[in-house]
Amino acid sequence: MSPTTTALVTGGTSGLGLAVAERLLASGVVPVLLGRGEERGRAALETLGGRAVFVPGDVTRPEDVTGALDAAEHRGTLRAVVNCAGVPHAERVVGRSGPHSLDRFAEVVTANLVGTFNVVRLAAARMAANEPVGQERGVIVNTASLAAFEGQAGQAAYAASKGGVVSMTLPLARELAGSLIRVVTVAPGFFATPAVAAVPAAARAELDRDLVHPRRWGDPDDFAALVAHVLDNPMINGETIRVDGAVRMSSGLRHHDTRNTHHRERPDTGEASST
Ligand SMILES: NC(=O)c1ccc[n+]([C@@H]2O[C@H](COP(=O)([O-])OP(=O)(O)OC[C@H]3O[C@@H](n4cnc5c(N)ncnc54)[C@H](OP(=O)(O)O)[C@@H]3O)[C@@H](O)[C@H]2O)c1
Repeated sequence: MSPTTTALVTGGTSGLGLAVAERLLASGVVPVLLGRGEERGRAALETLGGRAVFVPGDVTRPEDVTGALDAAEHRGTLRAVVNCAGVPHAERVVGRSGPHSLDRFAEVVTANLVGTFNVVRLAAARMAANEPVGQERGVIVNTASLAAFEGQAGQAAYAASKGGVVSMTLPLARELAGSLIRVVTVAPGFFATPAVAAVPAAARAELDRDLVHPRRWGDPDDFAALVAHVLDNPMINGETIRVDGAVRMSSGLRHHDTRNTHHRERPDTGEASST
């Protein structure tokens, strides 16, 4: 019997992460899903069936990540980590109710950037002890966003968090090369996931104007297909790959925003600016 390969998928209980978990299962890899919501986790396991595992926890908490890594190593050899956990946020630097909340800025950066790094550091330490297969011991895929490159008005916190994920990709890949571990980041455009399903139609229509080809929102499996390729292709390393159908996000400003010193809040929720 061949040894079991496992993969940790943070945020694997929903959206892009769930699609990645589906692809992993189909290729014979056991996905271990890490997410905070237990109900979401149970629902994901029902969707996935098979041998998927759910571990409740928060990517920012070292003990939770350690528990998920233990679960993955208990079931087989951990060869892949796909970081999809993340939270959207939209808030003006100076909004109608005053300056941007500093706590909220720190929370978003903590969830999206510090959380990703927390998983990377703990997972890499485990994978570094693997027997190499071919020329590698493991692969880490992180999730950024177009906001890392062209963040819209209202996205300072979210863009900063995702920009950090992009910026650490190369140094992580360089450092972990000695352990035969690759590090790659994927930057998705607009994908139809539960995170954006709640966005008001008007806000979605605004983003629709930026679509190029194909003129549709991505299916989570389009993202998962790229992640599957990255996991398989040993020459992809230290790079951020956009998967966005040629979208370049506009400023997110309306004309009155540049005329008036008093900015109106965008009508959208944080989710509208999650890309
Ligand atoms: N959808 C898009 O268009 C789009 C575009 C660009 C980038 N992204 C990025 O892609 C990733 C996935 O987004 P999505 O659209 O698939 O969102 P989603 O459907 O809301 O899924 C997010 C997942 O992350 C988990 N999560 C959030 N914070 C967590 C934490 N601190 N610890 C552990 N798990 C946590 C959520 O579960 P719990 O809440 O139960 O913990 C959920 O499973 C995010 O990083 C997002 O920023 C999405």
